[in-house]
Amino acid sequence: MRIAILGGDGFVGWPTCLHLSAQGHEVHILDNLSRRWIDTELGVQSLTPMDSIQERSRIWKEVTGETIRFHLIDLSREYERLRQWLADHRPDAIVHFAEQRAAPYSMKSDRHKVYTVNNNVNATHNLLAAMVEAGLDAHLVHLGTMGVYGYSSVGAPIPEGYLDVQIDTPSGPRTQEILYPTRPGSVYHMTKSLDQILFQFYAQNDGLRITDLHQGIVWGTHTDQTRRHEQLINRFDYDGDYGTVLNRFLIQAAIDYPLTVHGTGGQTRAFIHIQDSVRCIELALRDAPARGDRVKIFNQMTETHRVRDLAQLVAKLTGAQVKFLPNPRKEADENDLIVKNDQFLALGLEPTTLAEGLLSEVVDVARKFAHRIDRTRVPAVSAWTRDIARRVERDPEGKALKSVS
Ligand SMILES: NC(=O)c1ccc[n+]([C@@H]2O[C@H](COP(=O)([O-])OP(=O)(O)OC[C@H]3O[C@@H](n4cnc5c(N)ncnc54)[C@H](O)[C@@H]3O)[C@@H](O)[C@H]2O)c1
Repeated sequence: MRIAILGGDGFVGWPTCLHLSAQGHEVHILDNLSRRWIDTELGVQSLTPMDSIQERSRIWKEVTGETIRFHLIDLSREYERLRQWLADHRPDAIVHFAEQRAAPYSMKSDRHKVYTVNNNVNATHNLLAAMVEAGLDAHLVHLGTMGVYGYSSVGAPIPEGYLDVQIDTPSGPRTQEILYPTRPGSVYHMTKSLDQILFQFYAQNDGLRITDLHQGIVWGTHTDQTRRHEQLINRFDYDGDYGTVLNRFLIQAAIDYPLTVHGTGGQTRAFIHIQDSVRCIELALRDAPARGDRVKIFNQMTETHRVRDLAQLVAKLTGAQVKFLPNPRKEADENDLIVKNDQFLALGLEPTTLAEGLLSEVVDVARKFAHRIDRTRVPAVSAWTRDIARRVERDPEGKALKSVS
């Protein structure tokens, strides 16, 4: 297949490009490299040394003989170029990663909120409108997040996208299928909730074939393909805005920094290893909906864990200290999370769970590149509200809270 990977220079996008290219697909990356600019804005860099996208692609060609093509396009601001690109290249499938994806970054300031909404909602809508205009019947696979559902404990498993509800009508109760209600906990998650409605509309109005993957938090860094050459290495974020919880614990352990647990650490989250993430995308691409079908929605995760349990696990493995800090987010202290993921299991996904070997591999990568870490960038300081910001500022080190080893 000819596959356009939007956001193919990113953390999940790059290993996906390699995975699909290794399987013989013709891969085209469309990216505006904004993620690299955000590193510059924040004054941080990937823990792992990343080459330019052109250099990475050159190495891939050298290692495998396969070509990955790169097109510098901003999906949210260059609608005409995007439409023309689609009309000229007519991909069979499109994988859409190209959004601002950090909740803390989206909550940094009003400017970051506006940027995240403009970037994410326009990128998705421009893509959908351009597909219709170009008369393209490509299968669109989008990366959404489990986080759109919020983290309140309902006590029932989160289904894969849809919920049957009973509505009272004058002629008696009627059953209707609705999108499982979202309850976004940040501006970033709000944009992903809006994406869902855009997909529902374009599938129903124009017959676009769309799969939306509600992904858990991705952990790990290497995949089989990124291991093939040191310059194919994936990006690895450790800073307070872009680093995700488990990867951050592993990096913190590698540099003898206490594992920073926010609040009680009673938050339960869904996780998936990066190797499984790329495999799920492959499986989703093979299982395209037909024209006229409703949007196909998968929960792309393999396990759930409570944050403080993860911290204890990493502490046990590495001897690190665990530190409880004031939570910069507005969220429930404790929640349960039960998630259905039957569809990917039925398609043949064999989950990679939190094996100690893989956890240690990440710690080893972090130790190897520890000299690249700026310790002042490790704390997560973007606060969800002004009140929370004052509280976090009063006690940035969590001194009022307890520290355990
Ligand atoms: N990393 C995770 O743990 C995780 C979890 C759940 C869902 N997701 C979703 O998966 C997708 C990829 O995540 P990631 O971690 O690889 O993010 P990332 O920030 O590393 O990659 C996103 C890529 O998209 C590009 N991009 C952003 N806006 C663009 C635009 N307007 N035009 C063109 N390119 C643009 C960036 O330059 C970057 O290369 C995101 O949509 C994210 O919401 C990620």
